[in-house]
Amino acid sequence: MKKLFGILLVAGLVAGSAVAEDDVKTRTAPVGSTCLSGEACAAAPAPAASAGPKSGKDVYGGFCTTCHSAGLMGAPKFGTAADWAPRAAKGKETLYTHALKGFNSMPPKGMCAACTDDEIKGAVDYMLDGSK
Ligand code: HEC
Repeated sequence: MKKLFGILLVAGLVAGSAVAEDDVKTRTAPVGSTCLSGEACAAAPAPAASAGPKSGKDVYGGFCTTCHSAGLMGAPKFGTAADWAPRAAKGKETLYTHALKGFNSMPPKGMCAACTDDEIKGAVDYMLDGSK
């Protein structure tokens, strides 16, 4: 009886420590990494990248508007055809390049460092379309 108790105690300790270890692993795993094996994982927050590309309007509203709504530092104003016509005359590719790489006081990517090239181009299109 004493021996059986000892075996049970040892088994209990082993099982107990295994559970505790799993528990720690789960709790210390980086967010999202416990759901990589393809199982449904509703509680995990969606990674930012899966939010999809930002629209030109969103990028404009989040970044470009800072300068382009008021015409800060000579920025062509959104909605003002007279400001944008001479820009549009340069051709879209030039405007895309200037928006991406910068142009005089126009900062590269309009200060949206996290924006993709396509998102910046979308914002250029949005301003051009809204300023005819
Ligand atoms: C910090 C202020 C500022 C922000 C923010 C900004 N711009 Fe500009 N942008 C300017 C200025 C100033 C000019 C005019 C530069 C010049 O003609 O010398 C300009 C010019 C431009 C032009 C015309 C370039 C050309 O060749 O005539 C485009 C296109 C443009 N910006 C796109 C954007 C987009 C897209 C965003 C947002 C992602 C943005 N800008 C954000 C200041 C800004």
